[in-house]
Formats: sequence, structure tokens, C-alpha cells
Amino acid sequence: MTTSALRLENVTKRYGAVLAVDHLSLTVPSGIVFALLGPNGAGKSTTLEMVEGLRRPDEGDVWWGDLDVGKHADEARARFGVQLQTSAFFDLLTVKETLELFKSFYRRSLPVADLIARLDLTDKQNARVDGLSGGQRQRLALACALVNDPEVVFLDEPSAGLDPQARRNLWDVILGLKAEGRTVVLTTHYMEEAEILADRLAIIDHGRVLDEGTPRELIQRHMPAAVVEVSRAVGVHAGMVLPSVLSIDERDDVTLLVSDRLEDTLVGLVNWAEREGREITGLTTRNATLEDVFLKLTGRSLRE
Ligand SMILES: Nc1ncnc2c1ncn2[C@@H]1O[C@H](COP(=O)(O)OP(=O)(O)O)[C@@H](O)[C@H]1O
Ligand SMILES: [Mg+2]
Repeated sequence: MTTSALRLENVTKRYGAVLAVDHLSLTVPSGIVFALLGPNGAGKSTTLEMVEGLRRPDEGDVWWGDLDVGKHADEARARFGVQLQTSAFFDLLTVKETLELFKSFYRRSLPVADLIARLDLTDKQNARVDGLSGGQRQRLALACALVNDPEVVFLDEPSAGLDPQARRNLWDVILGLKAEGRTVVLTTHYMEEAEILADRLAIIDHGRVLDEGTPRELIQRHMPAAVVEVSRAVGVHAGMVLPSVLSIDERDDVTLLVSDRLEDTLVGLVNWAEREGREITGLTTRNATLEDVFLKLTGRSLRE
């Protein structure tokens, strides 16, 4: 496996009047799982397609080591594995035939039987693609992305539509790819997925990188301490001043208080409740998550 990093330099893409990717720069070190995290329409797929060499940027360059991916897309794609957000297959082919077909596009390849076993498709290898479940189709798409023994694997929303068990199985496969020394670049709008899988991630919105780092760095940088939740009925409201509280966010039935000193905030909350004759119900405290970071950076939640 190579040790080449992927580099996006000022990459920009417009669709007519829509600025889908806006002068985006990023470096993805090799051998890690890197996630592009952002809501629908953020520009994740477009960015990925430019890195994959499937779409030419209007401006800017993509480098893989010293290979200019825009200029030498064929060379890059021979060594990249790509799973698109929606995969089109020939419905009349079987799983095995589909993989044989994909394999025929490449000079270098992995044995089809191994891929079938690895993606847990042995029982389905002679089944036609049009009879596969969503999860099986997704696994076939991943098998197709691996057929050329790629150094970099690109996965666009790989776990979309999967049930929790299938998602966990997929995570194991992705971590296995990293263990083999491959680089994995994936997009997701699932916080948990980014937090569990990604060594580094970029939070993307409106075609721009809002921040980039390890999950822990991002949480520490933007969310220095803890989140206190109380039921909405307690009456804590945005605009109140409480000790060490950085922000108050009223949701449907809970109110979130982001605190940079949990003890101060809890004491302050109890004192306020005593003074006002209110009962504190539904109190929980937790560490801040990437979801909180995302909300703070963009003012909206990921699945809006
Ligand atoms: N082929 C296309 N033609 C026109 N607009 C597009 C096309 N693909 C994406 N867009 C627009 O570009 C923006 C970014 O889309 P996309 O890269 O698919 O984001 P994401 O993958 O984060 O959901 C969105 O506003 C989307 O509507
Ligand atoms: Mg997308």
C-alpha cells in the first residue's frame, strides 16, 4: 500500500447557480478512516466525486501523492475503489456475475469468491441482483468497490437505509479495510458513525469545511465541557443567565444547557430552582458529542 495523502486544494464546483463546493481544501492522510460529515445538500457527494476523479472541479486541484487526479483520473481510478451513493447494477445478473463483470474492468483484482465470503454474500452468490434486500445490495456495492484491491476506498453514505445490525457489520468491514492498510474516505450524516469510525473528520456545510480534526479534538475545541439536560417543563429558558452556562437550547421536551464547569452549573440550577420554587425533573448530564458540535457550528441538527 502507498503512503500518499489525498489533498484537495481550493476545490470548487457549481451546478448552474448552485455553488455546491466552495473553495474547499483538505488533506486526508493515508491509512486512516476519514469522514465527511454534514447534512443533506452540504456538498459531500460532489466533493467525493471530485476526489474520485469522476467529476472535474471548476477550480482547484485534487492530488493523490504527486498524482494530479484531475489530469490522470484513469490512473487514479485503477487504484481507487468507489461506492456511489446509489449503485446501479444489471438486475438480471447474479451477485457473482456482477462481481466478475466489475473484475473484468481492472488489470489487478481480488478473487471474487473471497469478496463474496468477506461481504457475507455466499448464500446469495447465485441470486439475481433484482432480488436482493437493501442491505445485501449495499454489501454487493461494497464488494464491487473492493474488486480491484484498491489503496483508497470511497464510500458515499455507506450505511444509509441499513438496520442497526447491518450497520454494525458494515462498520466491522470498514475497520477491517483500515487494518489492511487501506485509506477509507466516507460520507455520512450519522454522528455516531463518524464518531466510531473516523480517525479524522471534516464537518461540511454549504460546500465549505467548518472544521476538521479528530472527533476528540473537535469536541474539545467546540464543546469544552458537558451538557446538562432538564425537562422543558422546569422552565429554564434561552436567555437565562446561569453560572458557567455557554448556551441554552430549548428542544421539544428537553432544554440543553452547555456548560464549561458542570459543578457551577448544577449548583446554580439548584439555587435558581429553590428561589423560584420550581422542581427540577428529568435532569441528566452527559459529555458533549459531535452532534452538539455540529449544532453549535451550523445552528441546525444533522437530520433536519
Ligand atoms: N447533478 C446536479 N445538478 C444540479 N445540482 C446538483 C447536482 N448534484 C448536486 N446538486 C446540488 O449541489 C448541492 C450539493 O449536493 P451534494 O454534493 O449531493 O450534497 P450531499 O452529498 O452533501 O447531500 C446541493 O444543493 C444539491 O442540490
Ligand atoms: Mg450525498
